[in-house]
Amino acid sequence: MNINDALNDAERTFRQRGIPTPRLDAEVLLSHALAADRGFLYRHGGREMNEDEAEAFAALSVRRCAHEPVAYILGSKEFWSLSFEVDARVLIPRPETEVVVEEVLRIAGEAGKKGIDILDAGAGSGAIGIALAAELPRAAITALDISFPALLTARRNARTHGVEGRMCFICGNLCESLGGKFDIVVSNPPYIADKDYEALPEDVRKYEPRPALVAGPEGTEIHAALIRRGDSALKRGGWLVLEMGAGQERDIEGMFAASGLFGGSRCRKDYAGIPRVIMAQRKEA
Ligand SMILES: C[S@@+](CC[C@H](N)C(=O)[O-])C[C@H]1O[C@@H](n2cnc3c(N)ncnc32)[C@H](O)[C@@H]1O
Repeated sequence: MNINDALNDAERTFRQRGIPTPRLDAEVLLSHALAADRGFLYRHGGREMNEDEAEAFAALSVRRCAHEPVAYILGSKEFWSLSFEVDARVLIPRPETEVVVEEVLRIAGEAGKKGIDILDAGAGSGAIGIALAAELPRAAITALDISFPALLTARRNARTHGVEGRMCFICGNLCESLGGKFDIVVSNPPYIADKDYEALPEDVRKYEPRPALVAGPEGTEIHAALIRRGDSALKRGGWLVLEMGAGQERDIEGMFAASGLFGGSRCRKDYAGIPRVIMAQRKEA
């Protein structure tokens, strides 16, 4: 079978199985099986595949047909133009989370400090903290997660990107203890409500870790905990920067206001126009 035929076959099968991006996934998986880039597939569509290549592609395709996310099949996901190792013990970093990184960089730039201490609460693969460490050479980053396996992955990713020396990794529950005083606490916390879990796409529900997704009955429980901990975790004048889900803006604004700890909160939309990041500065006095 040649490359074009293999791609067409896989695309058809993926479509039948309800995979939302069948052609793209077929191309990404075939280029992985051939250890080539996607351009190779276009340039050499008529090239016959040997038995090993066909078997490797078939094995990857079977996993995708079972709705395993492409990132877990490949073992990596790009975020902030960096490649992150991922497996089923960490959430796959999402493109909208890059907006969180942008906001922290803006705040860090405005603060113009020499050194800056940042806590990435719920670090997962380390995507946010590592992207920040790569952009802010004088920042010290603490990555906190309740999942020890996730932290091991985060540390490997930090090593890969040469920032391990400026990061520390703490296994703990952010609802219980947030010792230390940080200039910025940033988090992409779980924010799915219990009742919405079953409606998530099969790829997410079957493969991504539930504790990375679901916060509790409302979906905003972890935001509430982080806002409550603002006084113990943040320096005066420090910033809390939180990712949130669609429709959570009002509730979280209310939590910031009710805490009495912060000046007014503000939101930033993602590139799909959804309010995605909410942030507020701890009062100076
Ligand atoms: C939505 S994922 C975010 C992962 C990563 N920061 C990202 O943006 O791709 C949330 C992370 O928070 C962690 N987590 C959930 N509850 C936690 C808690 N109570 N304390 C600390 N970490 C928690 C999960 O293990 C998961 O890694």
